[in-house]
Amino acid sequence: MRTTQQRDAHWWRHAVVYQIYIRSFADGDGDGTGDIAGIRSRLPYLADLGVDAVWINPWYRSPLIDGGYDVADYREIDPRYGTTAEAEAFIAEAGGLGISVLIDLVPNHTSSEHVWFQEALASAPGSPARARYHFVQGRGPDGIEAPSDWLSRFGGPAWTRVADGEWYLHLFDTSQPDLNWSNAEVLAEFEDIIRFWLDRGAAGMRVDVAHALAKDMTYPDVGPDGQDESHALTTVHPFWDRDEVHDIIRSWRAILDEYGDRMMVAEAWIKPDRRPLYLSPDEYHQAFEFDLLRAPWDAARFSTIIQASIADARAVGSVPTWVLSNHDVMRHPTRYALPPTVDLDTWSLIGSHDLLDEEVGARRARAAALLTLALPGSMYLYQGEELGLPEVWDLPEHVLDDPVWPNSGKTRKGRDGCRVPIPWESGGPSLGFGAGPSWLPQPERFAALAVAAQDDDPASMLNLYRAALVIRSARLVADDEIEMLDLGDSVIAFRRGNDVRCVVNMGPESVPLPDGDVLLSSSPVTGGQLPGDTSVWLA
Ligand code: NOJ
Repeated sequence: MRTTQQRDAHWWRHAVVYQIYIRSFADGDGDGTGDIAGIRSRLPYLADLGVDAVWINPWYRSPLIDGGYDVADYREIDPRYGTTAEAEAFIAEAGGLGISVLIDLVPNHTSSEHVWFQEALASAPGSPARARYHFVQGRGPDGIEAPSDWLSRFGGPAWTRVADGEWYLHLFDTSQPDLNWSNAEVLAEFEDIIRFWLDRGAAGMRVDVAHALAKDMTYPDVGPDGQDESHALTTVHPFWDRDEVHDIIRSWRAILDEYGDRMMVAEAWIKPDRRPLYLSPDEYHQAFEFDLLRAPWDAARFSTIIQASIADARAVGSVPTWVLSNHDVMRHPTRYALPPTVDLDTWSLIGSHDLLDEEVGARRARAAALLTLALPGSMYLYQGEELGLPEVWDLPEHVLDDPVWPNSGKTRKGRDGCRVPIPWESGGPSLGFGAGPSWLPQPERFAALAVAAQDDDPASMLNLYRAALVIRSARLVADDEIEMLDLGDSVIAFRRGNDVRCVVNMGPESVPLPDGDVLLSSSPVTGGQLPGDTSVWLA
């Protein structure tokens, strides 16, 4: 087993993890798609920013129908991104700068190009090759109807029929067949994949749709209202959040524990009170906190979520995670710029630009950064968030790449608007992303937000994040203590160990600024007042 880095076993408890959507981070070879060479060239930037770890979205060989969440070979890097040797070199180099690397494990489904699925297609119904997936007979005369009413998350039925008449399950795109996790071969294969990457120095993994692995293999109908995760709130659901997922997780945790300093974090859109199950000491180290990411800009809502999340994690010896954006949701400066009643999917498609107050959104994003970075636990920061990038909600339809767009019958634009390549420079064919045009076009407004444009500006978002991470690592990670303070309905305020207080005014009006030395503020504070939509750290 190779270790590239000295880490204590609890490093993840307060880590700032930077999420790299590899396609869109930096393009080292000029083909328009980001790659490992690009990431390596930007490692000094990440070290300077002060992050503890990076999580790399899937970088494996893939037809890239779902941005790499359609894996054709879990042990091979996609040639557009580089080679497995380059991945190893990158993990070692990052380790040399004190940055741990988390991989993205995609266990719920493979790509239809995976050798197992190709074998399944070439094999007869009832064969061991088919038993690795969910292949079943349909209903009705000659099995012409799908086995159940389950729908794909991207739109349309979750079942596709193959030439010999059997149907296979795919909770996502038809090119993403779901694996059968009650099959011992599937379990053994993933244990081996996990060891493969841990042996190459990966610090652990983010686990994709961690709550969907187990299925009720009688495939009962769920009805039109029972399709999404929220249905698992009230009943045992045939594919969301079933108890059997925990047996799988425990077997992975045992492997990680052999290595001592590795961790795994669950992407699980579950009811908050189920989260502690995932976080018990023999399961995940962390699970993403998605309630805050879905909450409107409202002090009462934020406060309830924050306190519940801290208490839930603490009860099982874990720590909360804070997430404002990721590659699946509208970027938060844009979310916070819209009235809370707006349906984001509809707005992206036919929304009125007039509803958007970008100045307010940017101001709130700055305040949210200081709020979340001051809380106990770890922070997952999505690439470009530190630049204040907004959602590119106005991408022209002909460039859209997300399967959500066609599969939803063009009723949902999908997630491309948060995946537009990073602007590094204010000029050039792709604003410094690469030597040529980028796979998704960048809007003109990205030029002013480029790294180069923000680098020397003390008031920039980039420098706010840099300053916050310096103070955070010096003063805010020694322990998990937090004491909530009551400073009014529109204010979230708390004291951390080391006597640092964070005060966030989420309302529109100024409030009195408490005494103390201002360590950092998200917008200027003067005259003893804390303006609206502003956070301050006080010593
Ligand atoms: C969650 C991932 O974050 C998303 O991008 C992907 O489409 C689905 N899981 C399916 O893998």
